Amino acid sequence: MLPVFTAVRSSVGKKVLMAVTALSLVLFVIAHLLGNLKLLGRESDSFNRYAHKLESLGGLLYLAEIGLILLFLTHITIAISVFLTTRKARPVGYYMHKHIGKPSYNFFGSTTMIYTGVVVLVFLIVHLIHFKFGQGVKEGYIKEVDGESVRDLHRLVIEGFQSFWYVFFYVVSISLLGIHLSHGVWSAFQSLGASHPRYTPVIFGTGILIAVTLSLGFLSMPILIYFIW
Ligand code: HEM
Repeated sequence: MLPVFTAVRSSVGKKVLMAVTALSLVLFVIAHLLGNLKLLGRESDSFNRYAHKLESLGGLLYLAEIGLILLFLTHITIAISVFLTTRKARPVGYYMHKHIGKPSYNFFGSTTMIYTGVVVLVFLIVHLIHFKFGQGVKEGYIKEVDGESVRDLHRLVIEGFQSFWYVFFYVVSISLLGIHLSHGVWSAFQSLGASHPRYTPVIFGTGILIAVTLSLGFLSMPILIYFIW
């Protein structure tokens, strides 16, 4: 059997693969936020130009998207498998959670990972249907940028965030993504062996900082567009 399949069958292998896929997805989310910040310029051309440049990568973009899908699928499959195994081992949850010795880090985030993860997955499906596969040039969402006719993605985003319930859905989902990351980033480093009494608080703090920065960054877009612009 291939070593990777053997590794995935062991609980340590699952943890490592979860951690590697998690940190890779975090890198994607950081890059996605940096690109989307162009929306805040309030000028449609720079965002449409950026989206069009990505599209012009052609085969390379498809390759990156296939990689991204594989990362998501691996992460989700292992998460569900670990959740079901733990549930089978302990069908009735703890009556009371009590720490022995020092309190553990980020208790709330750690116990809700599977639930916040499911919400993020639902969010992602709605998000992709709307923005990735939503209206385009054929439906009249077209803009002239640098002498080229490109998909007016900027208009699609701005129009989407005119709806209160859509903004509400984004605010709830992104806040839950923040909670997911607040435990996930730290936990991924732990799984990769980055654990030391001196450095663990630093890693934990960095995880929280990444989670808060990413969620505030993503939250700023629907909130600014709906309430201020
Ligand atoms: C307010 C926040 C967000 C905005 C305005 C936004 C905007 C967009 C837009 C416009 C696209 C389509 C890009 C294109 O077709 O070229 C897109 C794609 C995507 N978004 Fe977001 N996004 C946001 C938050 C998120 C979050 C939090 C995640 C992850 C949890 C995410 C994951 C993705 C993914 C995976 C794609 C598909 C990428 C690809 O296939 O190239 N987005 N987003």
